[in-house]
Amino acid sequence: MSEFIRICDVEKYYGQSNAVTKAVNRVSFTVNQGEFIGIMGASGSGKSTLLNMISTIDTVTAGHIYFEETDITEMNDDQLSDFRMNNLGFVFQDFNLLDTLTMEENITLAMSLHKEWSGKKNEIGKRCTEMMKTLGIEEIAGKFPYQVSGGQKQRCACARALVNDPKLILADEPTGALDSKSSRMLLDTFQKMNDQLHATILMVTHDAFSASYCKRILFLKDGEIFHEMIRGTKSRKEFLGEILDVLSLTGGDTSDVE
Ligand SMILES: Nc1ncnc2c1ncn2[C@@H]1O[C@H](COP(=O)(O)OP(=O)(O)O)[C@@H](O)[C@H]1O
Ligand SMILES: [Mg+2]
Repeated sequence: MSEFIRICDVEKYYGQSNAVTKAVNRVSFTVNQGEFIGIMGASGSGKSTLLNMISTIDTVTAGHIYFEETDITEMNDDQLSDFRMNNLGFVFQDFNLLDTLTMEENITLAMSLHKEWSGKKNEIGKRCTEMMKTLGIEEIAGKFPYQVSGGQKQRCACARALVNDPKLILADEPTGALDSKSSRMLLDTFQKMNDQLHATILMVTHDAFSASYCKRILFLKDGEIFHEMIRGTKSRKEFLGEILDVLSLTGGDTSDVE
């Protein structure tokens, strides 16, 4: 596996001199191509802030983030929007689907913004259908978000995130608004995206069950990485047991949401 993303001494501070919050404090790690990494930690530990800096939604206070050797913290706004468009796929807790568009239209909209698909109406339709089939939502293609379940909305959001073949998928608490059955389906989808489509995934979660699907987990506390776990050849169940042990030993609070 080759090095893909390098996060070097990244910091994010909020507030002024006498009331500074160190949301992320000198965090460094690398991500290899094809990894499925979880970022865990209690509420307020800096997970979203870290993910948002890697996804360039938020700027760093200090430090550097290299994406295939390019320092994305040095890019201007135009470069950033191209970078996001060409490389990233996002899945958020609250789905972020457009209510006035059908499932299918939500996905094809993401494609029509991408120059690779410009003027290729038939190809867009074909690719969208293929993606909906992969995620098991082809039957609800014509439905609007308010007509489908949370799990179906989230799988639509995944289809939208994946349809342009992003190099990196970023997910912030993607199972946060789902019941356990839908969570499991979504996590199985992520696993499939990682195993079969070789997508690199970075997923923020405070939920041990979700994290047990990852190949590696970084634990954040007060903006710093304090522990790392690697799944290796362990079964998901064994890994889940180990994650729960770490959380109980460190007083990790996973009870705040869900
Ligand atoms: N826009 C902001 N302004 C001020 N403080 C913020 C802002 N965003 C996050 N924080 C603070 O940074 C810390 C980390 O927040 P966050 O990254 O959202 O944590 P998590 O996602 O782990 O719950 C918290 O103390 C939070 O209050
Ligand atoms: Mg968060």
